[in-house]
Amino acid sequence: MLLREILKRATEEGWATGHFNVSEMDQMRAIVEACYEVGAPAIIGTSEGEAKHFGYAEAIALRDVFREEYGIPIFLNADHHKSVEAAKKAVDAGYDSVHIDLSALPFEENLVGTKEIVDYARQFSIQHSAFSISVEGELGYLRGESKIQKEKIEIQERDYTDPGQAREFVEKTGVDRLAIAVGNIHGISLDEPALDIERIRAIRQAIPENVALVLHAGSGIPDDQIRAAIDAGISNIHINTDIRVAYLKELKKTFVEKPDEAAMYKLDTPASLAMKEVLKEKLKLFGVVNKI
Ligand code: G3H
Ligand code: ZN
Repeated sequence: MLLREILKRATEEGWATGHFNVSEMDQMRAIVEACYEVGAPAIIGTSEGEAKHFGYAEAIALRDVFREEYGIPIFLNADHHKSVEAAKKAVDAGYDSVHIDLSALPFEENLVGTKEIVDYARQFSIQHSAFSISVEGELGYLRGESKIQKEKIEIQERDYTDPGQAREFVEKTGVDRLAIAVGNIHGISLDEPALDIERIRAIRQAIPENVALVLHAGSGIPDDQIRAAIDAGISNIHINTDIRVAYLKELKKTFVEKPDEAAMYKLDTPASLAMKEVLKEKLKLFGVVNKI
């Protein structure tokens, strides 16, 4: 099963896949188990920092082992790779998907760099005909980072993705997925986020149906806004902070309850279970249960 086939079905049927970030094996197993238990495909992301810590080859080796062990579709995405070189490295390493994020650059430079990665990934896919790499580009500017924000982050009008530019970007680059800025901020923001649902709808209508719309920074967004975003055409939602927080909260609690515990696996296990619960809630919210 190809990622683009799953995303096309999600767009047509009005549900969304979850994309979850990891930097450790325990978290990766928690994602795979949560997806396995609810019958969802697993899309696992490593940002440049996470991949550096985890190891590109190590993440791929574990993906292969988990695929064998659980028998569900598992895709590894090089999330927010912010240079052409970094994205090529992920393609060469054997990632299923790459998110080339040049959204901080001017439109033309973003377009040219993203197109270079689309061409590179297509070429790589032809040479290694066993699979086809999915490429995500990003347009619009997403603020914040994956943590609980201590200060209010102001979104500027110019940060938002423009539907007309989105159409041009998608047509000229040939990306499979487009990440957009529609009032979302990475991390859990101080104030309640307000997604621009009409803008999502307008972007959805402006681009071809086989290009998936991606909502990053899904943590801390109220459930009703997530549902409305999916109704408007989002078919992939990225979550990092919410699962980091669930894991760490439980880990800190275990440290306090068992100050003398020295076996790492006994400290990790409750944290992984807490993370898994949040993952399953998200998958249910996204409507991706029993889709494989
Ligand atoms: O690419 C990663 C996500 O956009 C995570 O964002 O930490 O707000 O969930 P989040
Ligand atoms: Zn993101």
